[in-house]
Amino acid sequence: MATTTTPLPTTRAYADPSSTSARLFKQAQAVMPGGNSRTSVFMAPYPPYASEGEGCWVLDVDGDRRLDLLNNYTSLIHGHAHPAITAAATRRLARGASFPMPTPEEVELASLLVERLPAVDQVRFTNSGSEAVMMAMKAARGFTGRPKIAKFEGAYHGSYDYAEVSLGSTAENWGPLAEPASVAYSRGTAPSVLADVVVLPFNRPELAARLIERHARELAAVIIDPVPNRVGLMPATPELLETLRAVTAAHGILLIFDEVISFRIGYHGAQGHFGARPDITALGKIIGGGFPVGAVGGRAEVMAVFDPRGGTPIVPHAGTFNANPVTMAAGLAGMRLLDAASFQKMDDLAGRLRDGLAACFKDAGVEGSVTGVGSLFKIHPSSHTLVDYRSSRPDAEEAARLDRIVRYLLDHGVLLSTTGLGCLSTPMAEPEVESFLEVFTAALAAERGAAP
Ligand SMILES: Cc1ncc(COP(=O)(O)O)c(C=O)c1O
Repeated sequence: MATTTTPLPTTRAYADPSSTSARLFKQAQAVMPGGNSRTSVFMAPYPPYASEGEGCWVLDVDGDRRLDLLNNYTSLIHGHAHPAITAAATRRLARGASFPMPTPEEVELASLLVERLPAVDQVRFTNSGSEAVMMAMKAARGFTGRPKIAKFEGAYHGSYDYAEVSLGSTAENWGPLAEPASVAYSRGTAPSVLADVVVLPFNRPELAARLIERHARELAAVIIDPVPNRVGLMPATPELLETLRAVTAAHGILLIFDEVISFRIGYHGAQGHFGARPDITALGKIIGGGFPVGAVGGRAEVMAVFDPRGGTPIVPHAGTFNANPVTMAAGLAGMRLLDAASFQKMDDLAGRLRDGLAACFKDAGVEGSVTGVGSLFKIHPSSHTLVDYRSSRPDAEEAARLDRIVRYLLDHGVLLSTTGLGCLSTPMAEPEVESFLEVFTAALAAERGAAP
């Protein structure tokens, strides 16, 4: 049965030099460096400013409405302003936003997470995924008494120094595949950090195992996002996950899963989806109902490093807004809405979306491909086989193509990441997917016209 769609309108009001977005950006530049407080939301010459959101739609301050396929970088799994989440947060807010005391809400959300995640016995809350990763790494060092962390080349785990290593490696500095170089992400990284990070090639289990074994005596943990966005959003192979589990267990190294994004691929998280059992899990994004959040969880024996009973813990962990009750109440409402049926619906819809995008590339004769798992998808401006960071990193021409496509989408009613990342939310259905595919078809037609 054909699905009827409403064509999405042009959404370029922000681009007018006299627009409200232009005025706000001018003001912002005077008080924030580059007018920006979050690198990932900048776009040249300036971005449209958001005004409000409802369901899977976002209105900008210049009156244009876009289909939101980014959902604040995958965190809004129920889209914007879901009535149940709004009610839970405002009900809690009216009774006080934060206290120097624990609240009942944190116990409830912790219980839900422990019940859903097979490898998590206990959990602690933070205010971001970056902090969750940082505490996961500190827990691993505290538990093992070892200094080093191994991570995969190109993988994003937030802004903790050790997590940023080799996030932006290039062909000029990444070294041999069998032994990727530890490359500073910015001049803000101290050289001592690089010495304590072992960089592994993604989806090359034998090479990764060899490097882990070589550094085993100094390694506290290996961290992996099993569906790493910046590596290309290709899932880790079963061989890689099995190898990591075996080699870390053999050497007393902890295995950390970063599920800050990938928790959204299934009711039992990425660990449920892949049948894996990490020692520590870092969470964030969807568990906060749209509010700032993170969490670190794991085996009780490992989580005991945070236990304050009996004096200073092995790894102390404070934080003024940790487990604040507004986030906890919103997160609890959002997580309770996420039942097995909602995952199934998003999986089916995302499958249709990924197939549709791949067909668009083929029909248009434009180089491109699509990766993703569950409700996540990523558009690549190349058609070659994607295995790891090196193969999925676009060259200059490919990057320019992706940029043109994403900008076309932005100007024609669709919000997507500048890196091609997108995701579904529970308010979406077939008509939204079909509308997106129509705009995408038009974007590729424009691209064919624009291509040199
Ligand atoms: C896989 C992964 N880990 C960690 C983080 C950091 O989370 P936050 O932005 O909440 O600090 C992110 C953020 O995008 C992420 O994608």
